[in-house]
Formats: sequence, C-alpha cells, structure tokens
Amino acid sequence: MTLIDGKATATAIKQQIAEEVKDIMAKGGKQPHLAAVLVGHDGGSETYVKNKVIACEQCGFKSTLIRYEDDVTEEELLACVDRLNKDADVDGFIVQLPLPKHIDEQKIIMAIDYRKDVDGFHPINVGRMSIGLPSFISATPLGIMTLLRHYNIETSGKKCVVLGRSNIVGKPMAQLMMLKNFGDATVTVCHSHTKDIKKECLDADIIVAAIGKPDFLTADMVKEGAVVIDVGTTRVPDATRKKGFRLNGDVKFDEVAPKCSYITPVPGGVGPMTICSLMKNTLAAAKKEYYK
Ligand code: GUN
Repeated sequence: MTLIDGKATATAIKQQIAEEVKDIMAKGGKQPHLAAVLVGHDGGSETYVKNKVIACEQCGFKSTLIRYEDDVTEEELLACVDRLNKDADVDGFIVQLPLPKHIDEQKIIMAIDYRKDVDGFHPINVGRMSIGLPSFISATPLGIMTLLRHYNIETSGKKCVVLGRSNIVGKPMAQLMMLKNFGDATVTVCHSHTKDIKKECLDADIIVAAIGKPDFLTADMVKEGAVVIDVGTTRVPDATRKKGFRLNGDVKFDEVAPKCSYITPVPGGVGPMTICSLMKNTLAAAKKEYYK
C-alpha cells in the first residue's frame, strides 16, 4: 500500500508556480492577483479561505480578502461580484460556498465573469470542461487528477466509482475521469438513490469518495488493490484535540488502507491539492491561458 502524500505534492507544485511568477515579474509582468469573498464565520470556510491566502503568499500572488456578515443582501453581494469583474487588477476570484440561505448561490455564480471564475463553477466553464475545451476546472477534481498523474496511477480503461454527485466535486470528477484523452475511465456515479453502492464499489479499480459521511467506505466495500481517494473533511467532535474536533474522511482508513494499492489520508491528501489547483487556475487566469 502506498500512502499518497498530497501535502508534499502540493508543496512541490506551489514551488513551481512561485518560480514562474518570479520569471513573469522579472520580465516586468503583473503580479497574479486572487480575491476571495467570505460571507459569515463558518469554521470550515474560515479555514479554507485562510489557507488560500497563505497559498497565495507561497506562490508570490497578491491576495485580497473581502468579508461580509451573514446578513449581507444578495444585491450587495452581486454588486461586489460586479466590482471584482470590472477590477482590472484582479485576475481571478472566488466566492466561498456555502452562502447563507437567503442568497441564491447559483445567481451569484452566474454573475461571475467566467474569465475570472477560477473555481470553475460558472456554467460556461462547466460546459466547456465537459466537452474537453480549455476552461477553469473545479479545484478538487483537478487536484485529484493531478495527484493520480503525479503517482503514475493509470486511469485509462479503469473502472472508477465516484461517490457523490455535487456540482463542486462529484459531477466534475466523473466528467474528468471519463473525458477523452484525459481520464478515459469507465465511470459510475453513486448517490443517495443508488440501489447497491457496495456492489458498485467492489467492482471499482478507483473509488473517489465525496459524500461527506464520515467512515462511509468500509473494507467490505473495497476490492483488493483498489485506489481510494478520500475527499471527505467532516468536522467530528474530539475532546483530545486542541480545537475540540478532528477532520474525518469518508473512508474508514484503518481497515480500508491495507486492501489498497494507493490511498489518500485525511488530512494531507486531497485538501492541499485543492488549494494548489486553485493557485494553478489563478496563474492560468493571470496568463490569460484560456480566455483573452
Ligand atoms: N466550498 C467548498 N469548497 C469550495 C471551493 O472549492 N470553492 C468555493 N468557492 N467554495 C467552496
């Protein structure tokens, strides 16, 4: 069993990005600039955004954090998106999800200029990605594909089961895995209405677990030699930790790991790769790699 080290892989990629940024700036180019909009004080979102700001520093990017309280109106948020769309210094920006219930998330995403949508959530980027055109790709699935490549894990012709069908992870993950000349895998997506998830998983060479249910994937659901990618990061109360919680993956790691050829840990697996993919997307935005 090989433990996939997402933290080390992400560090190496961020170093490459930092080198490239140095080059760009030495030639008189503009410093890449990522802005993040954070609404409210959700613990998970605070941590994600803080880590994104730190990653920007590591990559030599400029970063701007714009904060709103939970009672921000949809109009105020749309006006903020409009300002960021028009700000020539901002290469890309994200609006951290989830948003409070009184705000229509999809409306906010649709208002983002797709050329600055480094999250890859806008329908133009989602659509372009699904037909194999250059586009910003959702950071978690992109990070997972990068990780598989980094470890020379074959996906072509393999049976891949994706657990979960979210717009952010499950759906784009399935698209990338099946994409011609990219994942080239045979893909099954399982969700709450799937009849026999265990049967589907037992047939899989690669399992990507992204359903947000701690310890959902157990050893009896995994084929010997499978590759298991754990996207789960549920905060579970844990009195032995300083913060009073730990991050728990969707995989029952201790019993699943011995059966695997490769497995990602939580934390230190997919999480760091997500952030590093956002940095890649931001650099691509600054270089106008996909859109003029
Ligand atoms: N919430 C959870 N993951 C993400 C992400 O990748 N981007 C944004 N904007 N919000 C998130």
